[in-house]
Amino acid sequence: MSAKKLALLAVMALFVSGSVAAEAVHKYVGVKKCSMCHKSEAKGNQFGQWQSTGHAKAYGTLASPEALETAKRVGLAGDPQKAPECLKCHTTGYGGEQAEGFIASEGVQCETCHGAGSDYLSLSVMKSREKSIAGGLIMPTKEVCEKCHNKDNPNYKEFNYDEAVKKITHPAKK
Ligand code: HEC
Ligand code: HEC
Ligand code: HEC
Ligand code: HEC
Repeated sequence: MSAKKLALLAVMALFVSGSVAAEAVHKYVGVKKCSMCHKSEAKGNQFGQWQSTGHAKAYGTLASPEALETAKRVGLAGDPQKAPECLKCHTTGYGGEQAEGFIASEGVQCETCHGAGSDYLSLSVMKSREKSIAGGLIMPTKEVCEKCHNKDNPNYKEFNYDEAVKKITHPAKK
């Protein structure tokens, strides 16, 4: 390869790594922030609807007698509430590069499915779906659920997306 080509490649590599570093890493803000704007009955109270699902209790579940049984079955010693093997599916943002602001006790909260909120939660951004998506908002599909509802789950039950999504959605009142 010619020196000129090499130099060009080096510049390109610099450009690519530079642009990756410059890309915003969205941070988790916690469910309390989302609830500020998403708990009014008039708009559907997504916060309240979420609280009534198993997702809100997923961290607590890890302290149950069943959790100890599960841990024993998979050969895990110690407290399931402290085990990365369990936290990865029973909490939000655990272990990821974006885990700053991680609050285990909130369980599987909004940002698990909708993406870390630091760059979309301001009112001016949230009012526009386009801006929100650009800021990291995700409108979840089956693939998002299957990150946890899969056979790595020691208590796996058949996952039927169409049935399951009906049990956990929180439509706005139209
Ligand atoms: C400052 C108020 C505010 C905060 C904080 C906020 N939202 Fe919103 N959000 C809104 C508004 C306003 C809309 C537009 C729809 C509406 O009027 O209810 C919206 C819409 C949404 C939508 C639907 C988007 C669409 O296009 O259908 C989702 C999902 C959502 N928010 C999730 C979240 C999550 C998750 C958090 C926390 C990380 C959050 N929001 C924090 C005000 C807020
Ligand atoms: C981060 C992992 C994770 C993701 C992502 C996830 N779930 Fe779950 N889900 C769980 C865990 C853990 C439980 C068990 C909660 C408990 O009972 O402690 C659960 C329970 C459920 C249940 C049982 C009903 C209930 O209220 O207890 C349904 C239905 C469900 N999830 C549907 C979904 C759907 C649909 C999606 C995608 C839109 C999804 N889940 C995404 C981890 C996840
Ligand atoms: C791959 C994701 C995943 C991992 C890893 C995981 N869980 Fe779960 N867990 C789930 C989901 C999803 C459910 C809800 C059951 C379902 O719908 O499949 C659940 C349910 C449970 C339940 C409720 C029992 C039941 O039958 O509903 C207990 C207890 C539990 N998990 C404990 C643990 C423990 C302890 C660990 C670590 C050793 C662990 N889980 C690791 C995803 C996971
Ligand atoms: C287990 C995954 C999951 C969790 C956790 C979750 N959502 Fe959602 N959310 C969904 C799905 C799925 C939809 C429907 C997506 C669609 O219509 O494309 C949705 C839709 C929404 C919408 C739009 C409703 C409408 O009818 O326009 C809002 C607003 C919203 N979520 C806010 C929240 C807030 C706030 C939280 C936390 C308190 C939360 N979500 C937690 C999966 C989740």
